[in-house]
Amino acid sequence: MSVEPDPRVVEGLDAWEGLTALQQPQWPDRAELRRVRDRLAAVPPLVFAGEADALRAQLAAASRGEAFVLQGGDCAETFAESTADNIRNKIKTILQMAVVLTYGASMPVVKMGRMAGQYAKPRSSDSETRGDVTLPAFRGDIINGYDFTPEARTPDPQRLLEAYHTSASTLNLIRAFTTGGFASLLRVHEWNRGFTTNPAYARYEEIAAEIDRAIRFMAACGADVDALSAVDFYACHEGLLLDYERPLTRIDSRTGLPYDCSAHFLWIGERTRQLDGAHVDYFSRVQNPLGVKLGPTSTGDDAIALMDRLNPKGEPGRLTFVTRMGAGKVRELLPALVEKVTADGRPVTWVCDPMHGNGITSATGYKTRRFSDVIDEVAGFFEVHRALGTVPGGLHVELTGDDVTEVLGGSEEIDDEGLARRYETLVDPRLNHQQSLEMAFRVVELLRRA
Ligand code: TRP
Ligand code: MN
Repeated sequence: MSVEPDPRVVEGLDAWEGLTALQQPQWPDRAELRRVRDRLAAVPPLVFAGEADALRAQLAAASRGEAFVLQGGDCAETFAESTADNIRNKIKTILQMAVVLTYGASMPVVKMGRMAGQYAKPRSSDSETRGDVTLPAFRGDIINGYDFTPEARTPDPQRLLEAYHTSASTLNLIRAFTTGGFASLLRVHEWNRGFTTNPAYARYEEIAAEIDRAIRFMAACGADVDALSAVDFYACHEGLLLDYERPLTRIDSRTGLPYDCSAHFLWIGERTRQLDGAHVDYFSRVQNPLGVKLGPTSTGDDAIALMDRLNPKGEPGRLTFVTRMGAGKVRELLPALVEKVTADGRPVTWVCDPMHGNGITSATGYKTRRFSDVIDEVAGFFEVHRALGTVPGGLHVELTGDDVTEVLGGSEEIDDEGLARRYETLVDPRLNHQQSLEMAFRVVELLRRA
């Protein structure tokens, strides 16, 4: 049976249009934007509302310490880089991290790719100047191109359609990989092939061998090992570009309620979480599980006000706070926030983003992060939650499946000079495959103590 939507609910979905929406492009041609939005409103949704509900239940488990969330992927996905190899390598990296965490901490891992939609970027300035030329800043492939030319940098609504199609093909491959055999635990060794000279890989091989033996033991005992062949893998991105998120919203026929069907999980960024702003209003009206990034200037009152707007009834799994304080500040700033929210009583899932509070510029001029700072913020996050008796629920990282050199340190000891070897990111520096695995091992140690 399908439930008719309440017309007031549908009308409310456009209330954001009357509010201030930060970080949106200046579209030169509004009529074309309108046509593109109409088209997006008619295409098939990318995810099913029931999947978003399933994820919400898993996030609720994470808020109680019964699961651990792993969100990983690019800072900014690009259309050109959305190739089979890149997608496979990222999935492999996330699966390998998940294996390490599931095995090492005996904890179910909620797997989410910052993938299949992470195309829009908030920027600190609307424009960029090189020499005597000033052009609009690059805001992500869904809006404009990275090349520093007037043609590339002019916002183009057709890019919304390209984002939709790129997202659809990425999701299609994700679904094929995660349910079609590639993600089977019987293949744990194969995910590591080609990477065996590093200490993190050697450690991974040990775990893989133990898992193999355990599976063969269970199978010999007659246990049903089918559950090991596929994984639930969810897609998430920053809910930034409302001209994209609004037309991809659908009314769920089961409940009559709206879901943003561009992804399972959306988060509101640190720069767009104003209580009276368009983003908070919009996402308060859809049923997906949501995240909000909280940086060092966030207060406990901000957090409570966000709960009032985004999860007034305190539904478990609906709201995730993704904290990004910086390694030097997390121990000092996080406790007040967590205490205030805990005293409120409505549940939230706490996730640590150890990337965005730890940006630096290398001596050689690269935008980078130190692996040691990233690890230190995660450690601080666990310490704070352990001290308060609250639950460290997950990790949100920027990573790639490749051997890039964008983050300093790790067991390969990438140094200032080493960054030049393979620095490919368009926006923020990402953990490479090996640093990602190393991170998973460190988190296991922390989870065992938590
Ligand atoms: N389906 C289980 C899970 O998602 C087991 C599993 C299969 C798994 N493949 C995996 C776990 C890859 C981690 C990584 O937990
Ligand atoms: Mn980033």
